[in-house]
Amino acid sequence: MLLKGKNIAITGSGRGLGRAIALACAKEGANIGLTSRTLEQLNNVKRETEELGTGVKVVVQNGDITKYEEVEEIFRVFHEELGLLNGVIANAGASWMASAHEVPPEKFAMVINANILGVFYTFRAAYPYLKKDDKNNKARFIITGSAVYPSVMGRFSSYTASKYGVVGLQKELATEYKRENIIVNMILPTQVDTKLLRGRRAGDGNKPPGVLDPEELNDYYLFLMSDYANRMNDELIYPSYFEAARKFIADAPGDKKDNWEVFQDYLKEKSPRVFDNVKKFGNLMDFILIRSK
Ligand SMILES: NC(=O)c1ccc[n+]([C@@H]2O[C@H](COP(=O)([O-])OP(=O)(O)OC[C@H]3O[C@@H](n4cnc5c(N)ncnc54)[C@H](OP(=O)(O)O)[C@@H]3O)[C@@H](O)[C@H]2O)c1
Repeated sequence: MLLKGKNIAITGSGRGLGRAIALACAKEGANIGLTSRTLEQLNNVKRETEELGTGVKVVVQNGDITKYEEVEEIFRVFHEELGLLNGVIANAGASWMASAHEVPPEKFAMVINANILGVFYTFRAAYPYLKKDDKNNKARFIITGSAVYPSVMGRFSSYTASKYGVVGLQKELATEYKRENIIVNMILPTQVDTKLLRGRRAGDGNKPPGVLDPEELNDYYLFLMSDYANRMNDELIYPSYFEAARKFIADAPGDKKDNWEVFQDYLKEKSPRVFDNVKKFGNLMDFILIRSK
């Protein structure tokens, strides 16, 4: 098991990406702390996690990520129940779609608060409980960003502003805490079939082409939590680059996809553009190659 015995807290884990990440971490042997505002959803995920039969410990504590005293309480409980944390995934997030002049000011603030302040609160409240004493097994702080950075969708001013802003926060944290054995990285997905993107239609089986299932992002989070990524800090990981590489993995002859060392020449020849996008992340490509066997 990839994460056996690790303690991992995941915000926004009642549904969507957070739920999928929580189940994936538990399947790999991690004890997990689940949090969002909706207790019923968290309890459902707890039940699903326990049904995996891996015997991991699952702690549920609901709260609002934009209220610091609630975030403090969440991490106090996680620490009390799980002990020191090996990793925290700051994943909770919100969105609002409308032309800028039509966005109610309180909704703009709500999105900024969830997506920036919520990440800062998560880091601040988790910091005392991160396991920072082992440079060979560093504490992980992973942020779910968005591939809207560095581009623009239109009609998502608050969301775009927040996801640009949180990159700045990530860079600060990565720089400030590297000497304390905390590494800070971000995963920036494109479109995923969740309530945030598709509202009540999420998971209805009719997602538009190109929209990923939440589970398709699990490998990126598992990688960043694993020993493979112990030296990785201050990176922005765009899953779409690796999803493009996966298509070439599927078509490659067996002897060309044993590991990154052999696969990179194949990929460079087939698609110099895809190769260029992933070449910096040999460890992640190795991880994907192993898991796609
Ligand atoms: N779906 C996409 O296309 C997409 C693409 C790129 C990035 N992302 C990012 O992925 C992350 C997860 O979103 P998702 O797509 O999985 O959406 P989702 O299904 O709506 O899940 C969002 C999660 O965040 C929680 N949350 C929202 N506001 C909160 C608050 N104030 N306090 C505590 N928890 C809060 C929600 O729970 P409660 O409402 O119960 O609190 C829920 O568990 C977000 O950061 C989002 O920006 C999504």
